[in-house]
Amino acid sequence: MTKYIGLMSGTSADGMDAVIVDFSSDHPTLIAAHGCAYSARERSQLREAALADSLALDTIMQLDRDIAARSVEAIQQVLDQAGLGVDDIIAVGSHGHTLRHRSAPAGYSWQIGDPSWIAEHAGITCVADFRRRDIAANGEGAPLLPAFHQAVLNSTTPRMILNLGGIGNLTVLREQQSLGFDTGPGNALMDDYCQQHLNMACDLNGERARQGRVNNRLLGQWLRDPYFRQPTPKSTGREHFNLKHFSLDASLSHDDILATLTELTAASVGLAVEQHGHGAGELLVCGGGVHNGYLMQRLQQRLPGHAIGNTADFGIDPDWMEAMGFAWLAYQTLQGRPGNLPAVTGALGERILGGIFLAS
Ligand SMILES: Nc1ncnc2c1ncn2[C@@H]1O[C@H](COP(=O)(O)OP(=O)(O)O)[C@@H](O)[C@H]1O
Ligand SMILES: [Mg+2]
Repeated sequence: MTKYIGLMSGTSADGMDAVIVDFSSDHPTLIAAHGCAYSARERSQLREAALADSLALDTIMQLDRDIAARSVEAIQQVLDQAGLGVDDIIAVGSHGHTLRHRSAPAGYSWQIGDPSWIAEHAGITCVADFRRRDIAANGEGAPLLPAFHQAVLNSTTPRMILNLGGIGNLTVLREQQSLGFDTGPGNALMDDYCQQHLNMACDLNGERARQGRVNNRLLGQWLRDPYFRQPTPKSTGREHFNLKHFSLDASLSHDDILATLTELTAASVGLAVEQHGHGAGELLVCGGGVHNGYLMQRLQQRLPGHAIGNTADFGIDPDWMEAMGFAWLAYQTLQGRPGNLPAVTGALGERILGGIFLAS
């Protein structure tokens, strides 16, 4: 038996992704996948919590429980979908939902979604809290996906993986030492703008941005943010990339602002590739941003020498990459194998990540 469940609630706060993955062969097989969308109320609660300067302890504890309950629901739904039961699964790898992520050296990262509750109520062993061991070992605790990318998508020709969630992260696959880091905003700023000004969850397919015009003065100003030129290892989060930090120009139209925010994502990825990536080769995109056709077009424009594709072409559905990665991290942990890449996170060495909450 080699089936694991992976759970991911990303910085977009769009929902909880649940997957069942079989690790019996070299290439992990996705058995089933289910996305539980958060209600508008849940979404705004999570976003507010992640951006709040302070939060009542009782509010935090309630959210911790709510995310755990949502995790159990997602587990049951994905099991039903696959026609499997709890006895078919070795463990759940639960990322939880990030409330805070601050970079090293004063770093900390905290994901909620009580793993004791998950183990008890799902009846499956739960591996969780993957980031903090890496941070304790002087690492960033993020990004963790590059190790999974390396395990499943390595190539003898130059290849990079770009995950466009709320935050963007790039993996530069290398035979010797793969690199990986957060590039800055993925969809987060565009989503925030759509939710605050247009009563839309996101700019579907980039249709609004496509009609706008990039404001180069504003773009230039945003691109001067020191994060974009900071050396690796580096990671970031909503604490930094939110609309409070990126002043908007009220005289611009909604479409122009969205075009400029979309360009910021494309340009910051372009800069990241220029500074740390392969000069040519494949750039395989995953995460929700891959569905934004206009953003993909802008990326290709910024990186004309790269072949921009989709991880689906190599057997990993872009929508489930991250959840699959956390199933894999649980698998690594229970096999006694490390989950971090020290060259990526800056940790002192490889570490077995997470805590194990046994079902029985
Ligand atoms: N059809 C689409 N058009 C534009 N953006 C999309 C589309 N589908 C998904 N997205 C974007 O992807 C985001 C979700 O991506 P996801 O990979 O789940 O991010 P996270 O890991 O941060 O939760 C949405 O918030 C939205 O911005
Ligand atoms: Mg998501």
